[in-house]
Amino acid sequence: MAKLYVNPNVKKGHLNPELQGHFSEHLGRCIYEGIYVGENSEIPNVNGMRTDVVEALKEIRVPVLRWPGGCFADEYHWRDGIGPKAGRKKMINTHWGGVVEDNSFGTHEFMELCRQLGCKTYINGNVGSGTVQEMSEWVEYMTFEGVSPLADLRRANGHEEPWTIDYFGVGNENWGCGGNMRPQYYGDLYRRYQTYVRTYDSKKPIRKVACGANADDYHWTDKVLETTFDHGYGFMNGLSLHYYTLPTGNWGKKGSALEFDEKDWYRTLKATLKMEELITRHGAIMDQYDPQKRIGMIIDEWGTWYDVEPGTNPGFLYQQNTMRDALVAGINLNLFNKHCDRVKMANIAQMVNVLQAVILTEGDKMIKTPTWSVFHMYSCHQDGELVESSVETRKIGAEEDVQVPNLTESVSCSKDGKLHVTLTNLSLDQAEEMECVFVQTGIKAAKGTVLTGAMNAHNTFEAPDQVHEEEFSAFTVAGDRVSFTLPACSVLHLELEV
Ligand code: AHR
Repeated sequence: MAKLYVNPNVKKGHLNPELQGHFSEHLGRCIYEGIYVGENSEIPNVNGMRTDVVEALKEIRVPVLRWPGGCFADEYHWRDGIGPKAGRKKMINTHWGGVVEDNSFGTHEFMELCRQLGCKTYINGNVGSGTVQEMSEWVEYMTFEGVSPLADLRRANGHEEPWTIDYFGVGNENWGCGGNMRPQYYGDLYRRYQTYVRTYDSKKPIRKVACGANADDYHWTDKVLETTFDHGYGFMNGLSLHYYTLPTGNWGKKGSALEFDEKDWYRTLKATLKMEELITRHGAIMDQYDPQKRIGMIIDEWGTWYDVEPGTNPGFLYQQNTMRDALVAGINLNLFNKHCDRVKMANIAQMVNVLQAVILTEGDKMIKTPTWSVFHMYSCHQDGELVESSVETRKIGAEEDVQVPNLTESVSCSKDGKLHVTLTNLSLDQAEEMECVFVQTGIKAAKGTVLTGAMNAHNTFEAPDQVHEEEFSAFTVAGDRVSFTLPACSVLHLELEV
């Protein structure tokens, strides 16, 4: 029997909806085909955005969307993607598959997508190969209301009102594909570029995100902050972190998304649990400069990265998605909740057809992946207050050196006063008897949903509903306790009225 202790009287911080954010890059079939098919497509669409995909994304309440990359961002020149489509520049997407990028999805289309999704906007600017002027003018084009050459150009291109940029990334992976810079050099560039990312409407401040580290590169975090920090607050609202879950830890041989064994299962989950150490250690460095935690940790790329599906373009990063990915999602979303004092946004890579996608498409068909279901179950946490909780765990795993805790959890209180518990059972074969104790709190009613299946269970275009959320009612409620059996290999959401 494992006990979960919850103290609803102790609130630990606000859960920004952005903790469940997404990322869409001009990569493979994410934007083109996956989201944008153009107004003339036979696939039902609204202003070029596929209706089926937009509807599925609205169900998980996508809170924020990052665009246009990724590595693509530091090669993207925004002027190529505005104006009449016939005249837009065709270029090679050198990073991703060497395919032709016709720029038919640009700034106006991205803003239209966010309008349809009802989500916040996170634009990533180009520091690697772009100029300060180019970045500054893009911001002016998008957000300036008055008379100026750039605002007038936006109007001439059909959009009278300025848009809102909620977050602006000043470069991406500038330690790698974004220019191979040293942290001190990037820190200096950050100081300069961000100066010209101007907020024109003080009621809608643009939150500026600096390029942070790759995984455990703590030196990068320290040096970027050291180089920039004398500049005072307000110049940086967020510092990013990228961490991908690789089953093997080896970029040359990542392993298959579908063909894996028990050892790979536990290796993958152990690799994803490293996120906690990364948040803690990068957070400790940030604390030295920013003890008041005014700069958010922005984990704007996370998720699993496997070998591409056999027969697909290696540059398109298309992979299937199983219960293993569901567990990875559940574990990480619980971790982001637990660290909400520092983590203010996280963006899964990527939204459609790329890496750990919530949606996969093939022609006019679309499937929701197990990861989609986890986002659906966890959307209850958006805008809630984290509640104090802890769970008893034991170590499990297939090998001595690949041990993981059997459970993870987080608990929040939503605005309507309901409590939401999300639990993951990492064990492949052991269901867990659970007793949840709610300190000084009587439980009036409970309901829940569960996602479970074999480790490599997944949805296909032929069988789109193999893995799906199911109602969970096999629990007993007695006073301040709720008891149930948590199935092996599962993610659970319980909603409690108190
Ligand atoms: O998400 C795929 C790529 O991974 C992104 O373009 C880049 O930022 C990261 O290396």
